[in-house]
Amino acid sequence: MIKFILNNTPIATEMASGTILLDFIRYHKSLVGTKIGCREGDCGACTILVGDVRDGELHYESMTSCVTPLGNAEGKHIVTIEGINQKELTPVQDAIVEEGGTQCGFCTVGFVVSLQGFALGNKPYTYENAVAAMDGNICRCTGYKSLERAAQRIVNHLATSNGQNKIEWLVAQGYIPPYFSNIKQQLTDLENELHQQQPPQNGTLVPVGGGTDLYVQRPEEMRKTAISHFFYQKALNGITRKGNNIHIGAATTAEDIRSSDIMLDAIPRLFDYMKLVSSTPIRNMGTVAGNFVNASPIGDLTIFFLGLNASIVLNTQGNKRTIPLKNFYKGYKVLDKQPGEYLEEIIFEVPGKSTTFNFEKVCKRTHLDIASVNSALQLTMDQDRIEVAHASAGGVGPTPKYLQNTCDFLKGKTITESTLQEANMIMQEEISPISDARGTNEYKRLLLRQLFYAHFITLFPNQIQLELLQ
Ligand SMILES: Cc1cc2nc3c(=O)[nH]c(=O)nc-3n(C[C@H](O)[C@H](O)[C@H](O)COP(=O)(O)OP(=O)(O)OC[C@H]3O[C@@H](n4cnc5c(N)ncnc54)[C@H](O)[C@@H]3O)c2cc1C
Ligand code: FES
Ligand code: FES
Repeated sequence: MIKFILNNTPIATEMASGTILLDFIRYHKSLVGTKIGCREGDCGACTILVGDVRDGELHYESMTSCVTPLGNAEGKHIVTIEGINQKELTPVQDAIVEEGGTQCGFCTVGFVVSLQGFALGNKPYTYENAVAAMDGNICRCTGYKSLERAAQRIVNHLATSNGQNKIEWLVAQGYIPPYFSNIKQQLTDLENELHQQQPPQNGTLVPVGGGTDLYVQRPEEMRKTAISHFFYQKALNGITRKGNNIHIGAATTAEDIRSSDIMLDAIPRLFDYMKLVSSTPIRNMGTVAGNFVNASPIGDLTIFFLGLNASIVLNTQGNKRTIPLKNFYKGYKVLDKQPGEYLEEIIFEVPGKSTTFNFEKVCKRTHLDIASVNSALQLTMDQDRIEVAHASAGGVGPTPKYLQNTCDFLKGKTITESTLQEANMIMQEEISPISDARGTNEYKRLLLRQLFYAHFITLFPNQIQLELLQ
């Protein structure tokens, strides 16, 4: 039995937990305001809000319901456009109308829900954050400028909120209906009723994080699959610092990583790197373990954590082993992982004072696009010499690549243009890109060379000049 709240209605359903949430909403609850576009998490037409209680406060995030399993809704408040609509237009809907932000209207519900998510979310009410909240929504008609103006209007209005109780203020201003005032209590009661699901003790259940890979790759099969829903399991969530190491629960999302103070403290440019990963709703869903186990050669989190020389903890029926992430990949989608073994946590050492880190990604568009090539580099310096190097690259071979030979070469070297040119020659030897929709073999080789140089230009601007890229 899966229990949650859908808008203002408690739900208890015996449907398979692998059912797609969008189908449940539209076909079983006849809430057809939530649209079907791509069914691949790409267009945002099916955006919903998912609410829970965190640190005693109601917390909402946008997600794409087309790649969300029903089981991930357990214990949550699922909000569709019908759960927001009232007699009058909400200030979000009003701003979109006033600025001409809707034409054919197909995308509009998704934009409204995303902007409602911004109003209900915990990010500061800035124009940049309002526009970023829409980065998972595609519109073929408006050209986005009118929607950006609507975002500005909403920000201006939200700025008058003065930090009162957020939910009560949003109710009073007509953003959300009055029933939201009772949701926190209802969710708390529901949480007490539901027992926490445990990680699987055998190999018969398929682990699912956010579902953003599985439900794109094999949606039909997933509807009927027996699933272990890892997404909200407390034991697999969260980021903690223990001494010099950071431990990240396997089901922690890209957005949780992006908004973590512990992570920001360790990686000061974290925000710039993470905004390159997919879009707001997909970051709210995609987990770090899902990224690693999917084993895409261009997984951003995989390349990022390979550059940090992370380790992973694998667990089978309570038996744990820790291996370097770089040893996890044995061939195209072949992993050092036994049936029934699941990924429990990721561990990496906090970069010290003499250690620097950088991540680069090139793709065809800024948001919602996987990389043509991505790369990360971490260097620990001893005065002007490289003491330890960790370099990774994606899109240049069948697996996410740890550039072992390049790292070995860099050890003990000073940072000069000739060092980098020699390192590039070694790097070109250890990669094996293929030509595909993301570019030719030659293009990807050139791209990785440029990203490799870009790491040094960013990290050592006084030693390595921009001209090296030309
Ligand atoms: C529109 C869209 C845009 C995207 N953009 C990007 C992007 O820019 N960059 C990027 O890197 N990726 C991108 N992705 C891919 C995806 O979002 C990420 O790979 C994400 O991190 C996958 O996590 P998940 O929890 O959703 O995986 P799931 O689909 O839930 O699982 C993926 C695999 O991991 C397994 N698994 C999950 N958790 C565990 C565990 N703890 N132990 C063992 N196995 C486990 C599952 O069984 C499955 O085999 C995008 C996807 C979509 C739909
Ligand atoms: S239908 Fe396009 S993102 Fe869900
Ligand atoms: S208004 Fe037509 S797709 Fe956005």
